Amino acid sequence: MPKLTYFGHSAFLVEGKNHSLVIDPFLTGNPLARTRPSDLRADYVLITHGHGDHLGDAVEIAQKNDATVIAIYEIASYCEARGVKAHGMNIGGGHNFPFGRVKLTLAHHSSASPDGAYMGEPAGLLITMDGKTLYHSGDTALFYDMKLIGEMNTIDLALLPIGDNFTMGIDDAVKAAEFLQAKKYVPMHYKTFEVIAANPNEFVEKVSRKGLRAAVLQINGSLEY
Ligand code: NI
Ligand code: MN
Repeated sequence: MPKLTYFGHSAFLVEGKNHSLVIDPFLTGNPLARTRPSDLRADYVLITHGHGDHLGDAVEIAQKNDATVIAIYEIASYCEARGVKAHGMNIGGGHNFPFGRVKLTLAHHSSASPDGAYMGEPAGLLITMDGKTLYHSGDTALFYDMKLIGEMNTIDLALLPIGDNFTMGIDDAVKAAEFLQAKKYVPMHYKTFEVIAANPNEFVEKVSRKGLRAAVLQINGSLEY
């Protein structure tokens, strides 16, 4: 079973049988993170969109680990121009990698790099590894096509933002959970900054009232799925 570890905000490590993936590795400048980029070992770095709190330390981690960046085409090109291997994709497209399959989904948000470069459209990630499917929605509003994502995929674990202001708040994330019908949910993108100070236990409670399961991950906490 793949193991998911949380670094705060939307940053996670996914460890499978033979490969490790890091997602949205915002560590430097992340007030919640207790892990340094140099502590991470990963074969692939997946990025949902170009904002600094998601792109984070991606280039440095990819360089140090000789890892391949997987992201929408414009972000892949941005990283390639900074000397790392990258595989560009686009919304709705999937690709089989040595560790499994990645498909980019819609996300309703914006996307530009911290230095103002155009970074394509924001995306969510469907990652299938070792027979299990993880959905990292990226930063997004609630959208009805999450129902379609849920209908067409058996999602073992879904990571949803709950912090409000920049993304879905708790009530919209609960509706997203109903659309997706994943086996389990973990909230993300909260408490990092004052403006997104949501209570993750409220999300867990409201999700469980819908007959669905959710868990809060502590910083550097893990779960298998
Ligand atoms: Ni964002
Ligand atoms: Mn964000």
